[in-house]
Amino acid sequence: MVADTPARTPGTRSRRSRRGRLPGRQDWSTWPHYQAADAGFRGYWYPVAFSSRITGRPTAVTLLGERVMLMRDGGAVHALKDRCPHRGVPLSYGAQQFPGTVSCVYHGWTFDLRSGDLVAAITDGPASPICGKVTQPTFETAERLGMVWIFVGDGEDAPPIDEQLPEELVSNPAVVGVRIQRRVGNWRFAVENGYDEGHAKYLHRTSLWRLFKAMPVYNDTRIVRRGRWIYRVQDEQYWEADFPGLGRWSGQAWYKLKPPKKNAGHRNIGNTGGSQKVNATIEAQDFPGFASVSMPGVLRITYPHFIHYEFYVPVDADHHLYVGVMAEFRRGLRTLPFYAKYLGAVRWLFHGQFSGQDKWMVEVTDAPPERLYRPDESLLQWRRLAEDVTKARAARLRDEGLDLGDVEA
Ligand code: FES
Ligand SMILES: [Fe+2]
Repeated sequence: MVADTPARTPGTRSRRSRRGRLPGRQDWSTWPHYQAADAGFRGYWYPVAFSSRITGRPTAVTLLGERVMLMRDGGAVHALKDRCPHRGVPLSYGAQQFPGTVSCVYHGWTFDLRSGDLVAAITDGPASPICGKVTQPTFETAERLGMVWIFVGDGEDAPPIDEQLPEELVSNPAVVGVRIQRRVGNWRFAVENGYDEGHAKYLHRTSLWRLFKAMPVYNDTRIVRRGRWIYRVQDEQYWEADFPGLGRWSGQAWYKLKPPKKNAGHRNIGNTGGSQKVNATIEAQDFPGFASVSMPGVLRITYPHFIHYEFYVPVDADHHLYVGVMAEFRRGLRTLPFYAKYLGAVRWLFHGQFSGQDKWMVEVTDAPPERLYRPDESLLQWRRLAEDVTKARAARLRDEGLDLGDVEA
């Protein structure tokens, strides 16, 4: 017989609240769509590879748990489901035998790259009756910022990719440095780490990227929504603090620069040490805060001379792509120093070692359960944004008669 009440293990009682529940948040059911999105949110464009890597030879990528074959033909990139419908081997093992098509490595089933239609089954001759009866699913693709992007939806038309990219990257000439890295950990941990108010000042205080830049101990922060972004607005920064009974704590040192006093009015710009002037394009955006996030997991950190973006691309429930993009808004010959700076320093210090600390934390994060604290308002607001936007999308698609197999919310 199974007892109704399990025997009490020593110590269990003290971990429970008076109402008998475990303290903290045990699951993410407050945000059912977010909780269900282990392998990512559908309905978005995702960057998956450098454009230069996609050639006439098929390449395989995994996105939102789906295997996709990418191939360039006639200048354009095409994406097909990477599973031959005949016997299930990866189409990406195949090769091109006729222009505009790809042929499976096993029996030579040949698919039109644009439509996905089976146009030949080589080993059954030109009159094969299977032709015209099979269509391989395809994905829409685009190329922006030197990368190939794929739209993963639920049967709806893909919105123009420019509606999803950060607005300032669409409407201004920019020069970009990009790093793509496959990382361990759920994509949500990566977004949450990126937008987390608390960790940067503490975890990254030891990074080489911040070696000469002061970090506050803590901030007074508000989250403000504008358009499709939510912003962290820092009302006050505390550079030192007394912890009663413990002592004074500060991350300062004589060689670390605080943001110049002159920039006190620029609460919406991050600290890069001694920079005084803010780039005109960046200033014109008039962002409410220096760190912002939007769906489906795009982080934007604004500095005086550049903007740093992180796109967190769900590969599957346990892996994601970290796509770090540094953009400067300049053109012509003035772009040359950018490449020197990016390749000589930023790529290694910021997109490398600094971001490597985030990579480490995302790998070892294990939540829920979780016990959140005041700065985690940033996480709560991100989850709320994801939930609201996804609920609205689900309602819209249902109106269009598309079945989402959606979470009941
Ligand atoms: S498995 Fe692809 S052609 Fe047979
Ligand atoms: Fe970080």
